[in-house]
Amino acid sequence: MAIVNVPDKNLTFTETEEIKNYLGAIGIDYERWENVKSVSPDASADDILEAYSKEIEEMKAKGDYMTADVIDIKPDIPNLETILDRFRPEHRHDEDEVRFIVKGCGIFHIAPKDADVVSIKMTAGDLIRVPRGTNHWFDLDETRTVRAIRLFQDTAGWTPIYTESGLERNY
Ligand SMILES: [Fe+2]
Repeated sequence: MAIVNVPDKNLTFTETEEIKNYLGAIGIDYERWENVKSVSPDASADDILEAYSKEIEEMKAKGDYMTADVIDIKPDIPNLETILDRFRPEHRHDEDEVRFIVKGCGIFHIAPKDADVVSIKMTAGDLIRVPRGTNHWFDLDETRTVRAIRLFQDTAGWTPIYTESGLERNY
């Protein structure tokens, strides 16, 4: 279950409906995919995509997503910190960033144009859709572990465009 924080307002949300409502108001979609227990988080990528095929097809129809894959980040990956450094500065993409967490934890920060910065700590069963053009950044927690389904409209679009604002250093 996700934990949402608005540091500048000292707000915390932990209930699915309040998370959905708060994030929805700033243009971020949040969902729970409840059949998370029907497949092992350590199953093969193909088995995970198969177990969530219904949800994936529904998302694809909603957002013109063409492909899905499973990303697997573990503490022992060579150059892990270098990889994470690509996503830690504030950036946006020319396509949506859609992630469903199967295992571990990922922390998104969203910097909406007209609202406070919000952090979203995502764990197994949480799905987020960050629309194209939304400024955000991403990091792992101390476990340095995340396994997630990703959906792509066009993998060429999934390149970070850095804002160079340095905003992430405040959070
Ligand atoms: Fe991103």
